[in-house]
Order: sequence, then C-alpha cells, then structure tokens
Amino acid sequence: MAHEENKAFLRRVPLFSSLSESQLDQLAAGSARRSYPKGRTIVSEGEPSQSMYILLAGRAKVQRSDSEGKEVILAVLGSGEFFGEMSLVDDAPRSASVITLEPCEFMAVGKDAFKAMLVQSPEMCMSVMRGLVRRLREADKKIETLALLDVYGRVARVLLDFSEQVNGERVVKNKLPRQEIAKMIGASREMVSRVMKGLEVEGYIVPMPEGRLVLREKLSAYIS
Ligand code: CMP
Repeated sequence: MAHEENKAFLRRVPLFSSLSESQLDQLAAGSARRSYPKGRTIVSEGEPSQSMYILLAGRAKVQRSDSEGKEVILAVLGSGEFFGEMSLVDDAPRSASVITLEPCEFMAVGKDAFKAMLVQSPEMCMSVMRGLVRRLREADKKIETLALLDVYGRVARVLLDFSEQVNGERVVKNKLPRQEIAKMIGASREMVSRVMKGLEVEGYIVPMPEGRLVLREKLSAYIS
C-alpha cells in the first residue's frame, strides 16, 4: 500500500515525470514519506548524506552558519522543489542545513535509488542539472546584490523576490520576519527594521493585515 502511495506521489513530481513505471517502482522502493513540524532540521551542514528530498508541502530555508553561530539564509524552498542532491552527486558532506519554516511534508529518496535513476534516465539527469543551473543563476544574482547594492537595495530585492502579482498589485503574502530578511542580506535585524520603516514612511511599501505587504512600483527603482 505504502509503495503504491509513494509511487503515486513520485509520479506527480516534475523531476521524475520522465521515468517509466518500472523506474518509478524502483525509486518508490527506496523512498519514504515524512512529515515534520516547524523548526525541524532536515539535513545538517557538514554531515554525511543518505537521501535527497522532495518538498511536497510547506516551506523550508537553506542556511549556513559560522563557528560563532552567525547564520546566512541561502534560499527559501517551496512545495515541488528538491534539496539534498548535491552531496549525493559529489559524495561530499552536506553543503548547508535545511530547516522547516512551517509544518512540511517530504518524500525522502534514498541515495542508491536516486543515483541509479540518474544513470538510467538522461531526462531526469537533465532535470537535476536544470535545478542546479537555476540555483547557480540565483546565487549569481545574490552575489551581485551583496556586492553592488546598498542595504535599501538589498531589502528591496528580497521583498521583490518574495512577492507575487495579486489583482494587479505586487504582494508579499507570507509573513517575512525581519530577522529572516537580515539573515538573507548580511545585515542586522535593527538595520532591516530601520530600512523597512523608512520604506513605509516614504510610501514604497504598505503593511497590510496578517503580515502581508503591498509593494509599490517605485520600489524597483532601488535595484535598477
Ligand atoms: P546537500 O549539500 O546534499 O545538502 C544541503 C542542500 O541544500 C544541498 O544539497 C542543496 O540541495 C541545497 N542548497 C545548497 N545551496 C543552495 C542554494 N544556494 N540555493 C538553494 N539550495 C541550496
């Protein structure tokens, strides 16, 4: 029963859409569904790896920390995205930690099953490469942001990156704590609070109920 359920979940994951029924069987045999509460560390930076994960529901952050415990958030992952593949590809320790930001559901795919499929399916291999290339592009953008923009520009870029178009307006729908923004841009929480207040007073952003934010068009001037 669990096998058929796992197979059905895997079939819906775009990364595995090119796999045949027997390949999905093979993958499902090495996979398990997992649910975790908010704040749980799913993979830990520096540790050896046994699985990669598909996020079926919820959001999780990818972060690194230094020896003093200072943290930087590299990315926030949402449903349908995968992680934990890097250390399976190069057999090095986990490159970062992944921590749930809300209750999450995952499919954990074992190392052997994942590697066997990479060899068997050039289409799946290309999908993994596309995911890695997308991440590299985003990392390039982040390097540019950190090197070239002042702190107003960095905050503006995070807000724009996390926003979506809703009824003709750009809206950040999920509450984005200042501490989390600070960890994404290498600034203090106090500095982010000052910048957000400034953006609000100048009419670049408009706070709404439940932590939502409406972004005015002129905000993009900060990143151009
Ligand atoms: P792995 O190194 O196995 O474990 C940590 C995972 O975090 C890594 O695989 C990637 O899946 C993911 N990861 C690492 N760096 C980034 C990044 N810059 N953006 C998004 N995901 C990342």
